[in-house]
Amino acid sequence: MYQVRKVTDDLYWVGANDHRLSLFENIHPLYHGVSYNSYLLLDKKTVLFDTADWSVGRQFIENIKVVLNGRSLDYLVINHVEPDHTAALEEILLRWPKVKIITTPKAVILLHQFGFVLESEQVEEVREGDSRCFGKHTVTFVMAPMVHWPEAMVSFDVTDGVLFSADAFGSFRSLDGKLFADEFDFDRDWIDDARRYYTNIVGKYGPQVQALLKKASALDIRYICPLHGPVWRKDLGYIMDKYMHWSTYEPEERGVMIVYASMYGNTEQAAELLASKLAERGVTNTRLYDVSTTHVSYLISDLFKYSHLVLASVTYNLGIFPPMHNFLADMKALNLQKRTCILVENGSWAPRSGSLMRECLDSMKCMNILEEGLTLSSSFQEPNLPDMDAMADSIAASVNS
Ligand code: FEO
Repeated sequence: MYQVRKVTDDLYWVGANDHRLSLFENIHPLYHGVSYNSYLLLDKKTVLFDTADWSVGRQFIENIKVVLNGRSLDYLVINHVEPDHTAALEEILLRWPKVKIITTPKAVILLHQFGFVLESEQVEEVREGDSRCFGKHTVTFVMAPMVHWPEAMVSFDVTDGVLFSADAFGSFRSLDGKLFADEFDFDRDWIDDARRYYTNIVGKYGPQVQALLKKASALDIRYICPLHGPVWRKDLGYIMDKYMHWSTYEPEERGVMIVYASMYGNTEQAAELLASKLAERGVTNTRLYDVSTTHVSYLISDLFKYSHLVLASVTYNLGIFPPMHNFLADMKALNLQKRTCILVENGSWAPRSGSLMRECLDSMKCMNILEEGLTLSSSFQEPNLPDMDAMADSIAASVNS
């Protein structure tokens, strides 16, 4: 059965929700599903903006058919080639073989790489600033390379101020009947999923997102229609401000994230004691995570939020405990920077995790490491208390500075 929503008088959301996918990109856990958004413009010409993942293909096609109501599909704009948005392309071509595809030259190369057979007369390639008039609506194409693939562009309907933003401004989580961000309590229910989506999917490409935001600031945007998550029609400044923080790697809040790697609970105990010492000093905006049981996508997401990071790790095979090492590798891969860190190492005969974690952090940009770290020999003991207090003092002073 079809399920569509009207975005403007001429524009319909024809996407669908996937509640069954457990791992987005086969790596990021989903507990509340995800939406694949696609939009259909009815003008003198009919224009579909992006397709959808094949998992929702049947409903997606039903949605298009009900909105077209017997009309043909004239154009398909492909803003982004990643398969969660192009898997249904072949079905579109089979049902509407005369459809013209509007996309970037790089997208054409990638579409061929993914096995789509396209004749050159089926495709209209567009470049920065090109426009197409579909009747009442004129759409301008703005290149958005590496947000988050090289071929990506965004499309702007100048007539109604609608930005089809591709992966930018997207979010994990299914829409479940609603569509607009103002139909949710976004700041309560969605922001953590939106941050986890941005930071893990697009987070590496902050400078490219900055470039896109600069171009977007010159447009009179009234609606933002991303490829995942809700459509924005009110309070656009809220999500723009989040994107400014995330894409410049500036923390949203002053607070402390404590991530520990513990085999038998001793490093965990030290991490917890540090959290209580911080609370005694008035620093209560803290989060404590076991790196072994928290998926790294959640750690990355919170790290984009908080200003301070404590890493506490056992030494394992004379190295960093593997899940902690993985977290550090992901931080570097995603270009995380501008955080204040402090290190706690533990080792029963040759503690090395502290110096090795420092090497990892030193290889990232603009990471400030406080010197009042802590070395434990197997477990936290009474003689370690002065060092713990000095560490808590140092973090509290830095958080409150
Ligand atoms: Fe949802 Fe980069 O694709």
